[in-house]
Amino acid sequence: MTADPPEQKHSPFTGTTVGLAPLAGWSDAPFRLLCFEYGADFAVTEMVSAEGLIRGGEKTVRLFERMPGEGPLGVQLFGSDPAAFAAAAVIVCRSDPAFIDLNFGCPVKKVIRKNGGSAIMRDLDLLGRICAAVVSVSTVPVTAKIRSGWNPEEENYIDAGRVAEEAGVAAVTLHPRYRSQLFSGEADWTHLADLREALSIDVVASGDVRGADDYRKIVEITGCETVMIGRGAFGRPWVFSEIKASLEGRLWVPPGPGEKTRTMIRLARMEEELKGERRAVVEMRKQYRWFLRGMPDVKDYRMRLSTVESMAEARLIIEELREDMEKKWTGTA
Ligand SMILES: Cc1cc2nc3c(=O)[nH]c(=O)nc-3n(C[C@H](O)[C@H](O)[C@H](O)COP(=O)(O)O)c2cc1C
Repeated sequence: MTADPPEQKHSPFTGTTVGLAPLAGWSDAPFRLLCFEYGADFAVTEMVSAEGLIRGGEKTVRLFERMPGEGPLGVQLFGSDPAAFAAAAVIVCRSDPAFIDLNFGCPVKKVIRKNGGSAIMRDLDLLGRICAAVVSVSTVPVTAKIRSGWNPEEENYIDAGRVAEEAGVAAVTLHPRYRSQLFSGEADWTHLADLREALSIDVVASGDVRGADDYRKIVEITGCETVMIGRGAFGRPWVFSEIKASLEGRLWVPPGPGEKTRTMIRLARMEEELKGERRAVVEMRKQYRWFLRGMPDVKDYRMRLSTVESMAEARLIIEELREDMEKKWTGTA
C-alpha cells in the first residue's frame, strides 16, 4: 500500500487580521495571553530549537505550552537540518497548534553560525528541503518566515517565497529587511507588495507596525490581509484592541494608569507562576521599561524597577506609580 500524499493545508491566516509576531524573549504564554485578551487573532511562539526539542529539553517544550484562554498559536521552529526539523515538527504536532512556522529570518550570530535562521536565505535549496520535510509530516498548516535577503546584493525574497510555496507551505511571512540591517532602518513595505504579486499563497506582513495608522498604511501599500506585530506590542499589548477598534469604526480609549499598572502586576504574577520568582523578576525588568514608555515623569520609577529584586518590591513600586499617575490623571497632583 502506498502512503497518501500530504493533504493540502489551508492558510491558517484566512479571515485573520492581526497577530503577535514570534519574539524570542517576549512571546511567551503570559504575554501572548494578554495580546489575545486585547484582540490578537493569533500569536507565534518564541523560536524553538528543532535540535533542542529532539534532545528532549524540558525548557524547549515549555516554549509552546499554552495557557488557558490563549487563541490560535503558531509554533516556530529554527535549525538547519531538514530531518531534525521534521522530527521536531512531529513532536510539535502532538500539541495540536494552529500552525508550524519555520524561521528563515533570525539574524543573530549564534543561530547563523550553525547555518540557521537567515543564513538559510543564502541556500534556497536547503530552504526548500526544510519546508518539504516539515510539510510531509505535519498534521497542521506549515508557514515560513523570511527576510528580504542576506544583504541588498543578495536580495532574494521572491525566489525564497516561490521555493517555499512550491514545497507546500500554506503562507509566507516577510519581514522586509535584509539580514545585514538586523532591525535598523525602515522595513521596505514595497517588498511585501511584490511578494504578494508573485505568490498565490497568503503573504503576511511584518515590520514597523506600531498602531492603527501603521496598520492601515501597510494594508493599503501591500494588499496583505494579515499583519504581525512585534515591537509595537512591547509594553502595549492593547495595540491589538486599538487596531480592531479602528477597523470596526469604534472610538478607542487608551488604557489609563489603573489598567496599565494592573496589567503589569498581572503579567508579573503569571510570569512568576510559569518561571519561578527569580527568573520572572529579572525578565520583568525589561517589560516594565516598555510599559512605562510614554508615561510622564517616571524616570525614578523606571530606575527602581530596572533593579528590582523581588516580586513584592515590584508590586509596591507599581502601586506607588499607579497612585502617582492617577493623581496626575485626575489633575489633583
Ligand atoms: C526581541 C526580538 C525577538 C525576535 N524574535 C524572533 C523570533 O524568535 N523569530 C522570528 O521569526 N522573528 C523574531 N523577531 C522578528 C519579529 O518577529 C519581526 O519580524 C520584526 O521585529 C519586525 O517587526 P516589528 O517591527 O513589528 O517588530 C524578533 C524581533 C525582536 C525585536
